[in-house]
Amino acid sequence: RHPGWPARLGPLQVPAGLVAVRGPRLLDGSAWSKIRLRDREHLERWEPTAPGTWDDRNATLAWPGQWSSLRALARRGMTLPFVITVDGQLAGQVTVGNVIRGSLCSAWIGYWVASHVVGGGVAPAAVALVVDHCFMLAGLHRIEATVRPENTASLRVLEKLGFRQEGLFRRYLDVAGAWRDHLAFALTAEDVPDGLVYRLLADGRATIP
Ligand code: ACO
Repeated sequence: RHPGWPARLGPLQVPAGLVAVRGPRLLDGSAWSKIRLRDREHLERWEPTAPGTWDDRNATLAWPGQWSSLRALARRGMTLPFVITVDGQLAGQVTVGNVIRGSLCSAWIGYWVASHVVGGGVAPAAVALVVDHCFMLAGLHRIEATVRPENTASLRVLEKLGFRQEGLFRRYLDVAGAWRDHLAFALTAEDVPDGLVYRLLADGRATIP
């Protein structure tokens, strides 16, 4: 165990419904696979390139392997993996990865939500819950997010949350089959003394049910 894991966070009310995050479960496989197979168009062009076909990688049978490797990394303190639920149903994932402690205390954050809830404020709420948790309980000081300049929806999420743009990483990540430029954003704990959830509440983007 390490600080901040496991955890259940939320809920927050947003236009799409009641958003909460929790650790992934073995039994999430069929709901996860159903969304991932249906939403290939929506997801694939933004995700890191991986071996195998989309259908094989996102089959129900692929989940136990993903779940156990996420859990193993989480137990070693290297990752904080979460699934997002909307009204109790799985609707996406938020992952804090590459956790480095020592004098960095830094990690990246990545997220996706199911197509049937996009535009409903789910990702901002889930990312706010997780970032606050990282700063307040998991002992992290800095969270980075890298986004392709073409990904306007994701840029909007970071803008709503007040992430600071810090640079452009050239040919940074192998996404959808090629090395893609990414805009680099970050927040440190000092940037959000009251937390990101507070910021969403103050801006009227979420309420506490
Ligand atoms: N289709 C596409 N985009 C839409 C739609 C729609 N139907 N409706 C709204 N949007 C755009 C709008 O620009 C919106 O901004 P606005 O609220 O100012 O109008 C913007 O999406 C963000 O909407 P939110 O409701 O705040 O966020 P959402 O819960 O929809 O999640 C996300 C955004 C995660 C980017 C989602 O679109 C998604 O899963 N995309 C595919 C995967 C992906 O790109 N993940 C991020 C990779 S980068 C990273 O992880 C750091």
